[in-house]
Amino acid sequence: MRAVTARRVVDRRIARRRIAVRRAAIFAVALVAVIALGAVAGVARAVATAGPAAAAAAGYRGAAPIPGVPDPRRAWADWALDCQGCHRVDGGGSARTAPKIAGEVAKYLKVAGGREYLGRIPGVASSPLSDARLAELVNWMLFRFDRRDLPAGFRPYTAAEIGRLRARPLRLRAAAVRRELQRRIRRRARSGAR
Ligand code: HEC
Repeated sequence: MRAVTARRVVDRRIARRRIAVRRAAIFAVALVAVIALGAVAGVARAVATAGPAAAAAAGYRGAAPIPGVPDPRRAWADWALDCQGCHRVDGGGSARTAPKIAGEVAKYLKVAGGREYLGRIPGVASSPLSDARLAELVNWMLFRFDRRDLPAGFRPYTAAEIGRLRARPLRLRAAAVRRELQRRIRRRARSGAR
């Protein structure tokens, strides 16, 4: 009799423990599901807002279309994938990776050889993008990072022009060509030309 009672007590304890373990398991699964849902929602939000936020930052939301840039969002995405690793998201560059582009890059268009340089620098010429996408990206970059310096009557790069330029990449001479162009840019600035 006593043995039977003891057995029941043990059985009940085991049953209770099983229920507790099951509850803990259900709770853990629910917790993981909530966390996962939160993460998915967060990622979805980030994806949904990243484009428009970048567009707004670039100042072209609802603004006049950029000449030579059929799809600014595509150009922005190409920049993010292909260029910003070195030049940084804001075109600020860094001493270790690449020169600053923001507020600087359009100056090249005002000196002899500068327009060609922008299509022949290694980072541009060796991009995996097609000529058309690369032309769009270079035009976008000029507007996005240095619109104020664009020369009056600036003609956007075409796919054909970029194709011709990238076919003659600068490679090792890039640094020397850059130094010479920088000299021309400084000389021009000293002369007071805009
Ligand atoms: C691996 C790093 C790297 C990547 C990726 C890269 N660049 Fe560059 N970029 C440089 C360096 C370094 C220079 C300086 C010239 C040189 O020595 O090649 C430069 C120069 C430039 C310049 C001229 C600025 C100046 O003052 O000389 C422009 C414009 C430019 N890059 C645009 C781009 C674009 C557009 C892309 C993407 C398609 C890109 N770069 C990808 C490293 C990079």
